[in-house]
Amino acid sequence: MALLEIKHLVKNYDGEVTVEVLRGIDLKIQKGEFVAIMGPSGSGKTTLLNCVATLDQPTSGSIVLEGENPHQYNKNRLADFRRTKLGFVFQNYNLLAPLTVIENIVLPLTLDRQKPAVMIKEAERLMGELGITHLRDKRIYQLSGGEAQRVSICRALIHDPSLILADEPTGNLDSKSANSVMELLTSMNKERQVTTLMVTHDAFSASFCNRVIFIKDGRFYNEIYLGANRDEFYQKILTVLSHLGGRSHELLQADY
Ligand SMILES: Nc1ncnc2c1ncn2[C@@H]1O[C@H](COP(=O)(O)OP(=O)(O)OP(=O)(O)O)[C@@H](O)[C@H]1O
Ligand SMILES: [Mg+2]
Repeated sequence: MALLEIKHLVKNYDGEVTVEVLRGIDLKIQKGEFVAIMGPSGSGKTTLLNCVATLDQPTSGSIVLEGENPHQYNKNRLADFRRTKLGFVFQNYNLLAPLTVIENIVLPLTLDRQKPAVMIKEAERLMGELGITHLRDKRIYQLSGGEAQRVSICRALIHDPSLILADEPTGNLDSKSANSVMELLTSMNKERQVTTLMVTHDAFSASFCNRVIFIKDGRFYNEIYLGANRDEFYQKILTVLSHLGGRSHELLQADY
Protein backbone atom coordinates (compact mmCIF):
# COMPACT_ATOMS: atom_id res chain seq x y z
CA MET A 1 0.00 0.00 0.00
CA ALA A 2 1.25 3.49 -0.84
CA LEU A 3 1.99 5.79 2.10
CA LEU A 4 -0.02 8.56 0.44
CA GLU A 5 -2.72 7.98 -2.13
CA ILE A 6 -4.50 10.86 -3.80
CA LYS A 7 -7.47 9.91 -5.96
CA HIS A 8 -9.02 12.26 -8.46
CA LEU A 9 -8.49 15.32 -6.30
CA VAL A 10 -10.58 18.29 -7.40
CA LYS A 11 -10.37 21.70 -5.75
CA ASN A 12 -12.52 24.65 -6.75
CA TYR A 13 -12.64 28.04 -5.10
CA ASP A 14 -16.16 29.41 -5.16
CA GLY A 15 -16.67 33.13 -5.53
CA GLU A 16 -18.50 35.24 -8.10
CA VAL A 17 -17.02 32.81 -10.58
CA THR A 18 -15.82 29.35 -9.63
CA VAL A 19 -12.06 28.92 -10.05
CA GLU A 20 -11.12 25.34 -10.91
CA VAL A 21 -7.65 24.94 -9.43
CA LEU A 22 -7.10 21.17 -9.22
CA ARG A 23 -8.90 19.27 -11.94
CA GLY A 24 -8.43 15.64 -11.01
CA ILE A 25 -5.02 14.79 -9.60
CA ASP A 26 -4.09 11.13 -9.02
CA LEU A 27 -0.89 10.47 -7.16
CA LYS A 28 0.71 7.67 -5.17
CA ILE A 29 3.74 8.18 -2.98
CA GLN A 30 5.55 5.24 -1.43
CA LYS A 31 7.17 5.26 1.99
CA GLY A 32 10.67 6.73 1.87
CA GLU A 33 10.22 8.64 -1.37
CA PHE A 34 11.46 12.21 -1.79
CA VAL A 35 9.21 13.87 -4.34
CA ALA A 36 9.22 17.37 -5.82
CA ILE A 37 6.20 19.03 -7.36
CA MET A 38 6.90 21.61 -10.03
CA GLY A 39 4.77 23.62 -12.40
CA PRO A 40 4.15 27.18 -13.57
CA SER A 41 2.97 29.83 -11.13
CA GLY A 42 -0.74 29.38 -10.47
CA SER A 43 -0.79 25.73 -11.60
CA GLY A 44 -2.05 24.59 -8.18
CA LYS A 45 1.08 23.36 -6.39
CA THR A 46 0.43 25.10 -3.07
CA THR A 47 -3.25 24.18 -3.25
CA LEU A 48 -2.30 20.53 -3.71
CA LEU A 49 0.13 20.65 -0.79
CA ASN A 50 -2.41 22.46 1.41
CA CYS A 51 -5.04 19.80 0.69
CA VAL A 52 -2.59 17.06 1.72
CA ALA A 53 -1.65 19.20 4.75
CA THR A 54 -5.37 19.30 5.72
CA LEU A 55 -5.10 23.11 5.73
CA ASP A 56 -7.55 23.15 2.82
CA GLN A 57 -10.57 20.95 2.10
CA PRO A 58 -10.84 19.12 -1.26
CA THR A 59 -13.97 19.78 -3.34
CA SER A 60 -14.02 16.09 -4.30
CA GLY A 61 -11.69 13.12 -4.48
CA SER A 62 -9.79 11.55 -1.61
CA ILE A 63 -6.46 11.86 0.17
CA VAL A 64 -5.42 8.86 2.24
CA LEU A 65 -2.28 8.79 4.38
CA GLU A 66 -1.35 5.43 5.93
CA GLY A 67 -4.94 4.27 5.47
CA GLU A 68 -6.47 7.36 7.12
CA ASN A 69 -8.61 9.97 5.39
CA PRO A 70 -8.21 12.98 7.70
CA HIS A 71 -10.67 15.11 5.78
CA GLN A 72 -13.44 13.07 7.40
CA TYR A 73 -12.23 13.88 10.92
CA ASN A 74 -13.70 16.37 13.35
CA LYS A 75 -11.66 19.40 14.40
CA ASN A 76 -9.88 17.84 17.40
CA ARG A 77 -8.98 14.61 15.70
CA LEU A 78 -7.80 16.56 12.66
CA ALA A 79 -5.54 18.75 14.80
CA ASP A 80 -4.08 15.63 16.38
CA PHE A 81 -3.52 14.01 12.99
CA ARG A 82 -1.79 17.12 11.66
CA ARG A 83 0.43 17.44 14.71
CA THR A 84 1.59 13.83 14.89
CA LYS A 85 1.55 12.57 11.29
CA LEU A 86 2.70 15.63 9.37
CA GLY A 87 5.75 17.87 9.53
CA PHE A 88 5.68 21.29 7.90
CA VAL A 89 8.50 23.30 6.37
CA PHE A 90 7.55 26.69 4.92
CA GLN A 91 9.35 29.21 2.74
CA ASN A 92 9.27 31.79 5.55
CA TYR A 93 10.25 29.23 8.28
CA ASN A 94 7.21 29.98 10.53
CA LEU A 95 9.34 30.04 13.67
CA LEU A 96 8.56 32.23 16.68
CA ALA A 97 11.14 35.00 16.39
CA PRO A 98 11.45 36.06 20.06
CA LEU A 99 12.01 32.50 21.28
CA THR A 100 15.24 30.52 21.17
CA VAL A 101 16.00 27.65 18.82
CA ILE A 102 15.52 24.99 21.51
CA GLU A 103 12.23 26.58 22.61
CA ASN A 104 10.92 26.52 19.05
CA ILE A 105 11.87 22.88 18.60
CA VAL A 106 10.33 21.80 21.91
CA LEU A 107 7.09 23.67 21.23
CA PRO A 108 5.28 20.89 19.29
CA LEU A 109 6.07 18.46 22.13
CA THR A 110 4.48 20.62 24.83
CA LEU A 111 1.02 19.38 23.80
CA ASP A 112 2.05 15.80 24.61
CA ARG A 113 2.16 16.51 28.36
CA GLN A 114 5.69 15.19 28.68
CA LYS A 115 8.08 16.36 31.38
CA PRO A 116 10.15 19.39 30.26
CA ALA A 117 13.44 17.57 30.90
CA VAL A 118 12.35 14.70 28.64
CA MET A 119 11.26 17.07 25.88
CA ILE A 120 14.51 19.02 26.02
CA LYS A 121 16.57 15.83 25.90
CA GLU A 122 14.64 14.68 22.83
CA ALA A 123 15.08 18.07 21.12
CA GLU A 124 18.81 18.11 21.89
CA ARG A 125 19.26 14.61 20.51
CA LEU A 126 17.59 15.58 17.24
CA MET A 127 19.53 18.85 17.03
CA GLY A 128 22.72 16.81 17.33
CA GLU A 129 21.59 14.53 14.53
CA LEU A 130 20.87 17.54 12.30
CA GLY A 131 24.12 19.31 13.17
CA ILE A 132 22.54 22.42 14.69
CA THR A 133 23.51 22.00 18.35
CA HIS A 134 25.60 25.19 18.20
CA LEU A 135 22.42 27.20 17.51
CA ARG A 136 20.63 25.91 20.65
CA ASP A 137 20.31 29.16 22.60
CA LYS A 138 20.21 31.68 19.78
CA ARG A 139 17.02 33.59 19.18
CA ILE A 140 15.39 33.13 15.79
CA TYR A 141 16.02 36.72 14.71
CA GLN A 142 19.76 36.10 15.19
CA LEU A 143 19.81 33.31 12.59
CA SER A 144 20.59 33.40 8.88
CA GLY A 145 17.89 32.15 6.52
CA GLY A 146 19.66 28.84 6.00
CA GLU A 147 20.08 28.30 9.76
CA ALA A 148 16.42 29.19 10.37
CA GLN A 149 15.31 26.68 7.74
CA ARG A 150 17.46 23.94 9.32
CA VAL A 151 15.82 24.72 12.66
CA SER A 152 12.37 24.52 11.07
CA ILE A 153 13.28 21.12 9.58
CA CYS A 154 14.31 19.98 13.07
CA ARG A 155 10.98 21.17 14.50
CA ALA A 156 9.12 19.39 11.67
CA LEU A 157 10.89 16.11 12.55
CA ILE A 158 10.40 16.22 16.31
CA HIS A 159 7.26 14.08 16.24
CA ASP A 160 8.80 11.62 13.80
CA PRO A 161 6.07 12.39 11.23
CA SER A 162 4.95 10.03 8.47
CA LEU A 163 5.21 12.78 5.90
CA ILE A 164 7.13 16.06 5.60
CA LEU A 165 5.41 18.71 3.51
CA ALA A 166 7.63 21.54 2.30
CA ASP A 167 6.42 24.51 0.26
CA GLU A 168 9.36 26.28 -1.42
CA PRO A 169 11.78 25.50 1.44
CA THR A 170 14.65 27.12 -0.48
CA GLY A 171 12.56 29.97 -1.90
CA ASN A 172 14.12 32.66 0.31
CA LEU A 173 17.67 31.32 0.30
CA ASP A 174 20.82 32.05 -1.67
CA SER A 175 22.28 29.13 -3.61
CA LYS A 176 24.77 28.11 -0.88
CA SER A 177 22.14 28.00 1.88
CA ALA A 178 19.67 26.31 -0.48
CA ASN A 179 22.28 23.63 -1.09
CA SER A 180 22.80 22.97 2.64
CA VAL A 181 19.03 22.83 3.28
CA MET A 182 18.57 20.39 0.41
CA GLU A 183 21.47 18.27 1.68
CA LEU A 184 19.82 18.14 5.09
CA LEU A 185 16.43 17.14 3.66
CA THR A 186 18.15 14.51 1.52
CA SER A 187 20.09 13.01 4.43
CA MET A 188 16.97 12.94 6.64
CA ASN A 189 15.12 11.23 3.82
CA LYS A 190 17.87 8.62 3.43
CA GLU A 191 18.79 8.03 7.07
CA ARG A 192 15.38 8.30 8.71
CA GLN A 193 13.34 7.11 5.71
CA VAL A 194 11.16 10.17 6.14
CA THR A 195 8.87 10.55 3.16
CA THR A 196 9.02 14.10 1.82
CA LEU A 197 6.80 16.02 -0.58
CA MET A 198 8.24 19.36 -1.62
CA VAL A 199 6.97 22.12 -3.88
CA THR A 200 9.70 24.08 -5.61
CA HIS A 201 10.30 26.44 -8.51
CA ASP A 202 13.95 25.64 -8.45
CA ALA A 203 15.29 22.89 -10.71
CA PHE A 204 18.48 22.55 -8.68
CA SER A 205 16.56 21.92 -5.44
CA ALA A 206 14.28 19.48 -7.27
CA SER A 207 17.30 17.55 -8.54
CA PHE A 208 17.96 16.34 -4.95
CA CYS A 209 14.68 14.36 -5.06
CA ASN A 210 14.05 10.88 -6.38
CA ARG A 211 11.06 11.89 -8.48
CA VAL A 212 9.73 15.14 -9.90
CA ILE A 213 6.04 15.49 -10.71
CA PHE A 214 5.04 18.31 -13.02
CA ILE A 215 1.57 19.78 -12.95
CA LYS A 216 0.02 22.24 -15.34
CA ASP A 217 -3.36 23.97 -15.06
CA GLY A 218 -4.32 21.73 -12.14
CA ARG A 219 -3.59 18.48 -13.97
CA PHE A 220 -0.77 15.95 -13.95
CA TYR A 221 1.59 16.79 -16.82
CA ASN A 222 4.61 14.50 -16.52
CA GLU A 223 6.95 12.85 -14.04
CA ILE A 224 10.60 11.88 -14.13
CA TYR A 225 12.71 9.73 -11.83
CA LEU A 226 16.30 10.18 -10.73
CA GLY A 227 18.49 7.89 -12.80
CA ALA A 228 22.11 7.03 -12.16
CA ASN A 229 23.24 10.62 -12.12
CA ARG A 230 22.00 13.86 -10.50
CA ASP A 231 23.48 16.15 -13.18
CA GLU A 232 21.57 14.30 -15.86
CA PHE A 233 18.43 14.46 -13.72
CA TYR A 234 18.88 18.22 -13.37
CA GLN A 235 19.19 18.58 -17.15
CA LYS A 236 16.06 16.48 -17.65
CA ILE A 237 14.14 18.65 -15.20
CA LEU A 238 15.19 21.76 -17.14
CA THR A 239 14.07 20.15 -20.39
CA VAL A 240 10.60 19.30 -19.04
CA LEU A 241 10.28 22.81 -17.61
CA SER A 242 11.15 24.36 -20.95
CA HIS A 243 8.34 22.35 -22.56
CA LEU A 244 5.97 23.13 -19.73
CA GLY A 245 5.86 26.86 -20.43
CA GLY A 246 4.75 29.43 -17.89
CA ARG A 247 6.95 32.32 -16.93
CA SER A 248 10.38 30.84 -17.41
CA HIS A 249 12.21 33.25 -15.10
CA GLU A 250 10.24 31.77 -12.23
CA LEU A 251 11.07 28.24 -13.22
CA LEU A 252 14.74 28.39 -14.03
CA GLN A 253 17.23 30.02 -11.76
CA ALA A 254 20.35 30.91 -13.62
CA ASP A 255 22.69 31.31 -10.65
CA TYR A 256 23.46 27.63 -10.16
N1 LIG B 1 -8.29 31.00 -1.48
C1 LIG B 1 -8.34 31.14 -2.82
N2 LIG B 1 -9.42 31.67 -3.41
C2 LIG B 1 -9.48 31.80 -4.75
N3 LIG B 1 -8.51 31.41 -5.60
C3 LIG B 1 -7.40 30.87 -5.06
C4 LIG B 1 -7.25 30.70 -3.64
N4 LIG B 1 -6.05 30.13 -3.41
C5 LIG B 1 -5.47 29.97 -4.63
N5 LIG B 1 -6.30 30.41 -5.61
C6 LIG B 1 -6.01 30.36 -7.06
O1 LIG B 1 -5.68 29.05 -7.39
C7 LIG B 1 -4.66 29.01 -8.39
C8 LIG B 1 -3.52 28.12 -7.91
O2 LIG B 1 -2.90 28.72 -6.77
P1 LIG B 1 -1.66 28.04 -6.05
O3 LIG B 1 -1.30 28.94 -4.93
O4 LIG B 1 -1.98 26.64 -5.72
O5 LIG B 1 -0.57 28.09 -7.20
P2 LIG B 1 0.96 27.69 -7.18
O6 LIG B 1 1.15 26.66 -8.25
O7 LIG B 1 1.38 27.34 -5.81
O8 LIG B 1 1.64 29.06 -7.65
P3 LIG B 1 3.03 29.73 -7.20
O9 LIG B 1 4.06 29.01 -7.99
O10 LIG B 1 2.89 31.15 -7.67
O11 LIG B 1 3.20 29.61 -5.73
C9 LIG B 1 -4.25 30.45 -8.64
O12 LIG B 1 -4.89 30.88 -9.82
C10 LIG B 1 -4.78 31.18 -7.44
O13 LIG B 1 -5.13 32.49 -7.77
MG1 LIG C 1 2.70 28.22 -4.37
